[in-house]
Amino acid sequence: MVILEAFTYCNAQTQHTSKVDFRLDTEINNLISRMTLREKIDMIHGNGFFTSAGVKRLGIPEFHYTDGPFGVREELHNDSWAPLGLTTDSATFMPTGSALAATWDTSLARKYGRTLGQEARARGKDMLLGPAVDIDRIPFNGRTFEYLSEDPVLNAAMAVSYIEGVQSQDVAACVKHYALNNQETDRESLDVNVNERALQEIYLPTFKAAVEKAHVRGAMAAYNKVRGKFCSANPYLLQQILRKEWGFKGMVISDWGGVHSTVEAANNGLDVEMGSGSDFNKYYFAQPLLDSVKADKVSEQVINEKIRHILYVMCKNHMIGDKDRKEGSINTASHHLTAYHVASESIVLLKNQDHLLPLHVSKIKSLAVIGDNATKKQAHLGFGAGVKAQYEITPLRGLEDKLAGKVAIHFAQGYQEAYQRNEEGEKVPVNTPDWKMIDQAVEIAKSSDAAIIFAGNTRTYETEGTDRTSMDLPFGENELIKAITEANPHTVVVIISGAPVDLSRAVRESKAMLWSGYNGSEGGHAMADVLFGTVDPSGRLPFTFPKSMSEVPAIVNGTFPGENGLADYKEGILVGYRWYDTKKIEPLFPFGYGLSYTKFDYSNVHTDHPLYRSDGKIIVSLDLKNAGTYAGKETVQLYVHAVDPKVMMPDKELKAFVKVGLKPGEQKEIHIPVDVHDLAYYDTGKKQWVVLPGKYQLMAGASSRDIRGSVIVTVR
Ligand code: BGC
Repeated sequence: MVILEAFTYCNAQTQHTSKVDFRLDTEINNLISRMTLREKIDMIHGNGFFTSAGVKRLGIPEFHYTDGPFGVREELHNDSWAPLGLTTDSATFMPTGSALAATWDTSLARKYGRTLGQEARARGKDMLLGPAVDIDRIPFNGRTFEYLSEDPVLNAAMAVSYIEGVQSQDVAACVKHYALNNQETDRESLDVNVNERALQEIYLPTFKAAVEKAHVRGAMAAYNKVRGKFCSANPYLLQQILRKEWGFKGMVISDWGGVHSTVEAANNGLDVEMGSGSDFNKYYFAQPLLDSVKADKVSEQVINEKIRHILYVMCKNHMIGDKDRKEGSINTASHHLTAYHVASESIVLLKNQDHLLPLHVSKIKSLAVIGDNATKKQAHLGFGAGVKAQYEITPLRGLEDKLAGKVAIHFAQGYQEAYQRNEEGEKVPVNTPDWKMIDQAVEIAKSSDAAIIFAGNTRTYETEGTDRTSMDLPFGENELIKAITEANPHTVVVIISGAPVDLSRAVRESKAMLWSGYNGSEGGHAMADVLFGTVDPSGRLPFTFPKSMSEVPAIVNGTFPGENGLADYKEGILVGYRWYDTKKIEPLFPFGYGLSYTKFDYSNVHTDHPLYRSDGKIIVSLDLKNAGTYAGKETVQLYVHAVDPKVMMPDKELKAFVKVGLKPGEQKEIHIPVDVHDLAYYDTGKKQWVVLPGKYQLMAGASSRDIRGSVIVTVR
């Protein structure tokens, strides 16, 4: 069979050479020429909630999709969201997006992706619907936990490694949601207006890197509109930018039910329509599209292009004519270890007065563990993608495993997760303290040597489909924290959330505080190891914690949730710390922030030259020393400040970062390369990236507000 042999040839090649692509194109064209129009149409819309058809007689297999970003979803019925109720579809629950980003470790992101790729393969999937990479424009977006960061450089670096990891396992990654799905409120009709500079500098770089650097095979069009057109039928986003400028070769799929037209979507660049209606032949890309081709409203050439994209992905996935496709594996010890490593490197130490942390087993005989989040399993809560975790170690279980036989643990729930409807009919948390529960918790806190409160949000509260209407700690947690910290001076507060919360009150009352994302199957073990000093906390915040919701730019400018269906991103490029720093507003915890049990000294920050050309490369070097007594990891962050620029520039912007492990007393010379081109801004008039000649201050820091050394260079 000539076709299958040709695909085998293509599959044997690992590099992207034009010779291989030419041969592949030819074979794909051959295959397309043998297909009927009906067969083609059947391939470009869902024939199940998570499948699209193949062509059996030509050896083209059915295509299987799966959520999601942080674990392979359980199996559902073909034509409904109801679970099949199998006993064979559990998976590893990986820490969710913001936790992964908090590691600032691209090699962990790659392992994370590889784990997901292997598990997806083991479950017979061809495309994993992740990573989810929309920028955190507002901290109360319901999907902040799933997304990565407010900064495009951190976002892109983590996403690229994640995608490479997934795709190394013969599974396509699908970068989503393209583009500007930065809020859940009105997401299915909202029109986003954003200026071109912000689009290019803030919202698109991660998608661009996914295509150009990671060769991502799938992209999911977002639900919302951008500049008046639905993303699933948006020629500027799908054709001009994605295909023409970036050279994307893979499949553009819709978000589920995100298509609103047949001819427009088909002609403007969407390849596959996915949805959740069970009459699959009624999809816009089913019978209506067949009719539109017959009526000459959509050419068969356009349909052929879509098939070409699908076959390209199938080839790269080694799905056609290849007996050597990787088979994957699931719930393995190595997957659990990766989940553990990501979790343990994502936890952020926010405050540590009097060196209360780490706790020492030798000094504590009894420990009060307080709070509903100590026992809450987060894998499968909320609306949308979740994981039927094979297991999930809760914080309480993690502590029990670590302290068994050494420390007596007393547990009290402390507060209860409950919701009510507000006047607008929105589901909001009940935020009144349960004094009976608090009193019980105070009792055990008083009689224990130390106390740990596990509070924060939950995956029910932070969820796809809705945004939080407040950033306050829910369920009366502030009152619980106050009562326990008063009852026991050795109280540690752990905030579990996927997004920033208003901690201004809690942080005043607590001596020691940690932040953890929804930390996956091994989250509890990781947390116990950080609390008791087996692991130095090396997580750094992937987003700013503002002092209050009223300081968030979209709230200040009155552009959330939008007016008359339009969200106008008036803050432009000033997203996240770019806003707070430029406007000189002090946040509660800045972007990139995180303490350690040890102490890192920075010295001798310098560059290889004082002067650079616009096509040059700057090497920033410094000496980093672990001057404390714990082994630990530091994330050195490199920010750039343009000195007296002729155009508006943010006060500072992250350009690069590196995570370094050092033993006590150890010192290393660190080199961080930055292309001068990366200092460019997007010139809307010229429609291109421009490096302004002039002076730039390169700043090495432990966070966006903790700069430890800087050097000024000139760009000609
Ligand atoms: C979400 C996507 C998800 C899809 C399939 C949609 O509601 O926005 O991220 O992949 O459902 O579950």
